[in-house]
Amino acid sequence: MSEAIAPNEETVNKAWVADWQKIEDEARKDPLAYWAERAAELEWSEPWDQVLDDSNKPFFKWFTGGKTNIVTNAVDRHLKDSRKNKLALIWESEDGKDKRTFSFFALSREVEKMANVLRAMGVVKGDRVTIYLPRIPEVVFAMLACAKIGAVHSVIFAGFSADALSSRIDDSESRVVITADGSWINGSVFPLKQIVDEAVRFSPTVENVIVVRRTGTEITMDPTRDHWYEDLTALPIARGKCPTEQLDAEDPLFILYTSGSTGRPKAILHTHGGYMVGTYTTLKYTFDIHDDDRFWCTADPGWITGHSYLVYGPLLTGATTFLYEGGPTYPYPDRWWQLVEDYGITTFYTAPTAIRALMRFGDAWVNRHDLSSLRLLGTVGEPINPEAWHWFYDVVGKGVAPVMDTWWQTETGMFQIAGVPAMPQKPGSAGRPVFGQEAEIVNDKGEVVPDGTEGLLVLKNPWPAMMRTLYNDDERYVQTYWSTYPGRYLTGDAAKRDSDGYFWIIGRTDDVIKVSGHRLGTAEVESAIASHPAVAETAAIGLPHEVKGNAIHAYVILAPHLTGSRELVEEIRLHVAQHLSPIAKPDEINFVESLPKTRSGKIMRRVLRAEALGEDVGDLSTLDD
Ligand code: PRX
Repeated sequence: MSEAIAPNEETVNKAWVADWQKIEDEARKDPLAYWAERAAELEWSEPWDQVLDDSNKPFFKWFTGGKTNIVTNAVDRHLKDSRKNKLALIWESEDGKDKRTFSFFALSREVEKMANVLRAMGVVKGDRVTIYLPRIPEVVFAMLACAKIGAVHSVIFAGFSADALSSRIDDSESRVVITADGSWINGSVFPLKQIVDEAVRFSPTVENVIVVRRTGTEITMDPTRDHWYEDLTALPIARGKCPTEQLDAEDPLFILYTSGSTGRPKAILHTHGGYMVGTYTTLKYTFDIHDDDRFWCTADPGWITGHSYLVYGPLLTGATTFLYEGGPTYPYPDRWWQLVEDYGITTFYTAPTAIRALMRFGDAWVNRHDLSSLRLLGTVGEPINPEAWHWFYDVVGKGVAPVMDTWWQTETGMFQIAGVPAMPQKPGSAGRPVFGQEAEIVNDKGEVVPDGTEGLLVLKNPWPAMMRTLYNDDERYVQTYWSTYPGRYLTGDAAKRDSDGYFWIIGRTDDVIKVSGHRLGTAEVESAIASHPAVAETAAIGLPHEVKGNAIHAYVILAPHLTGSRELVEEIRLHVAQHLSPIAKPDEINFVESLPKTRSGKIMRRVLRAEALGEDVGDLSTLDD
């Protein structure tokens, strides 16, 4: 484990939290007082009675009795102070030809328009709305508009297939879907609306589809169901004021589907009050957000990172958030650095996969740009190897911008293990539990293991932005997260703690695979592969990959009388892209005669993994054959 790097003086002088040991100590002694103080920095139309109600564990409630709305604090509050005319959102298109900027005032008007439209469609508090949009400003408007009127947004990453979209729409029983005619991906159009058409063909609940014009692609509009967003906003009904509904702190804000180790994707439920306090506090302290910051989180709003630290967190702190439509390497591998330079980005948050990919193109692409505006860097989604860390720190951050590695999950809503810039940094470690949190490394009996020993990462304290349950599945919530070691939250990750109290994340211990930081379950990948007519049975595993962290390898038993070929491999890969998502395409497909199974018929993926890596396959006593 490498040496710690001391933070530079300028960073510490500016930081909200310089004396971090003191705050850490105080928050450890009284986490609820710590959270109550942070919540009091925000606006509530009625104060809370209780900071934490833990009378029905693990169904924790935060700030009960309190009334607010995340939009009151992310938008409305700034209209009353000097931030009214400050830029809230800056956007640039993939081709660089379109740029749009919104002050907090302008953002508020856009959100009101979208909220009025939703209201006119009969969307009321508690209704779910599916958002399937590219990285354009309307995705931010749509999320905030739902929140404003108390509707529950369900954002689906606009790279998911019709099958995946359809099952998520049905599960959430959305009445409205918000999409675009298409999205730009590396200069080509991805047919979003066509995918929505396919997805909602058999959806009984969808009454209206709102279509934002983005690519100008010709699409079919169903006159009884589909509406151009620009036509709707031209109606008088869209123009008026739309008050922000004051909600109970525990009212749901959104659901977000994520992959688990078994079965169908689960919908993580987050609420207004606690999520607001948690994302606001963690962004403010870890990224040390000040009013002059321009924060760029490269994640897609379709993932939790986009929810918490592209949309809500920055706006809650009153920072300017930057949204870019495209990816890092199109048309050239300096696209991101050009944007950092053009917009004077101060704080830049991305994934190790992107760093590794860009690193391969060499330093010259970075060095041709003036990146002196950058003062803080951050990473998320998967462990960062020290080599990538140093490249990010030295070449991008010029050895002055600290790298904040942040460990957290869709479920946790906010950072759980992450430093603040005044702490010494250790390349490859995610840092320490956030203030108010405590984490442990335990063995399979739940006993805490000595420092330096690998074990399972568990969280000890409840935290405001924690998921409240799995939507419509309380039992699975209790089972998955709280029943292995009652009283402690099971993360699903393996990790180590060092003697300085820093945590080193190793990776998932279950059948969840992180591919380029994206979370996929072996079960959903396998079911996409198995839906190909040539496939009789299949198993998918993740194996280490230099850039993507992990890559999917699939083992396929073909239907009787079929033989494998290179064409069939390509066909199955394409099939997975179309039926789940291009991010789930296996890197390799091996045709096999049989799969290792237990006597009860469960596939032993661990055996496949060990064999592929040339490692000891371990205990085979449960193997069937
Ligand atoms: O395995 C951990 C990994 O990502 C998982 C959570 O995935 P998801 O819900 O998609 O959320 C990702 C973004 C918050 C975790 O269980 N992970 C996340 N951040 C890190 C990480 N692994 C190592 N280091 C991190 N900083």
